[in-house]
Amino acid sequence: MPSFPSRTAVAESAIPEQVRQFLDGVGRDLETALDRLLPAAAGDDARVSEAMRYAALSPGKRIRPALLIAVSDLYGTPRSKAVAAGAVIEMAHASSLILDDLPSMDDSDLRRGRPATHRVFGEATAILAAFGLLNRAFEILAADSAIPEKVRSEMARRLGAALGTEGLIAGQGLDLALSPSRCALDELERIHSRKTGSLFLACVEMGALLGRAVPAETEALRGYAKNLGLAYQIVDDLLDATGDPARAGKSVQADRRGNFVTLSGIEGARRLSEELFDCAVEHLAPLGRRGALLRGLASLLIHRDR
Ligand code: IPE
Ligand code: IPE
Ligand code: MG
Ligand code: MG
Ligand code: MG
Repeated sequence: MPSFPSRTAVAESAIPEQVRQFLDGVGRDLETALDRLLPAAAGDDARVSEAMRYAALSPGKRIRPALLIAVSDLYGTPRSKAVAAGAVIEMAHASSLILDDLPSMDDSDLRRGRPATHRVFGEATAILAAFGLLNRAFEILAADSAIPEKVRSEMARRLGAALGTEGLIAGQGLDLALSPSRCALDELERIHSRKTGSLFLACVEMGALLGRAVPAETEALRGYAKNLGLAYQIVDDLLDATGDPARAGKSVQADRRGNFVTLSGIEGARRLSEELFDCAVEHLAPLGRRGALLRGLASLLIHRDR
């Protein structure tokens, strides 16, 4: 995993070695899987494929695949299966970031420390690349014969729902329609839960499906993911207000429509993210000591500086 996190928000020494090693391993495995699973940038569609590779292989934090893999690890799922499913999630996420940066949405020029996809390839190719990534993600999942057919079809259903008109797309649509004067706490919660929380939820659900988790543990993991997903976006809003663009790798102070920080202030947003973190971790109680890695990951995500 590339340079994550740094000294400012979390002292290096405060990150448990287990979490660091886990994230480093996920980062490496995922890079290899994405490189293999993405289309080669050759042939008639080379430009779109190149844009897909540019967006997905750029140095993201790989948090969503890490969550899926951490959950499936609880049940001893072979790593190769979980990494392929993680790559599916990461492609869908990268697709959403291409769209989010477009001039018609957040109009952001910088992503993961590099020019946004549309700045390099132009808007039309960027939009095609976003569709390309999304389609490739579902194609890979549907064709993954290492996963029993019923399980992969349920995983695809959860992912589709998380990204769809009840999930990310709904949240993004509501976010774009926000204005500072119409920004209220319950509305923001609804938006963030959908645009970011729903994919976090899908990650743990897909990990639990892969691992054939018992229903009580799946429910506990869902509670964890819902709270963590919301907290993750609040911390993203905090970084937008207070972060260093060089460190964050994306434009900051870019959110002009209102968010948790514009509504509750830096202290209020920070407090809320901590409360949600506590709540996420409480949901892990049924897992006992087996939940240690997920607790460590949550702590890292809440205290991150990028
Ligand atoms: C950015 O997600 C969009 C949000 C929902 C906050 P990340 O902060 O996980 O972005 P990458 O994948 O590390 O670039
Ligand atoms: C984006 O939220 C969430 C998506 C679903 C793409 P933001 O607009 O806050 O994400 P960043 O800050 O650009 O990464
Ligand atoms: Mg946005
Ligand atoms: Mg944005
Ligand atoms: Mg943001």
